[in-house]
Amino acid sequence: MAVFTLNINGQKKEVDVDPGTPMLWVLRDHLKLLGTKFGCGIAQCGACTIHLNGTAVRSCSLPVSSVGEDKVTTIEGLSEKGDHPVQKAWIEHDIPQCGYCQAGQIMSASALLLNNSNPSDKDIESAMNGNICRCGTYTRIKSAIKTAAKTQ
Ligand code: FES
Ligand code: FES
Repeated sequence: MAVFTLNINGQKKEVDVDPGTPMLWVLRDHLKLLGTKFGCGIAQCGACTIHLNGTAVRSCSLPVSSVGEDKVTTIEGLSEKGDHPVQKAWIEHDIPQCGYCQAGQIMSASALLLNNSNPSDKDIESAMNGNICRCGTYTRIKSAIKTAAKTQ
């Protein structure tokens, strides 16, 4: 075990965990941030997506020991009132069905727009490629990302 001081959603948080513990479990089990979901555990589904310095990463495959002072953002920290342009566009396009994949989808979409304010269809497909939705909400997700790009 070792103590790590992490920068989570703009706040310093200390956790005492095994250095190999994936960030997904640090967030969910130790910090009780339950918005980040466990899907596959092997970086294949995107349900656990968070931002590391504004880049989308799979928290199930990110050991806590590799995070250091990097800025971690989870779905809880994306906006203060759930009013990030991507979240507003998600509501406008009525995207979620079961909802399980949606936090990860929103984190990937918001990371895309941080780095590319006017993404093409290809950019969207490539950025969202690793986020699986068993309910098949892909078409609405693509439309919502375009709406968010216009309103951000
Ligand atoms: S749970 Fe991390 S990619 Fe599936
Ligand atoms: S909304 Fe059900 S898995 Fe995506």
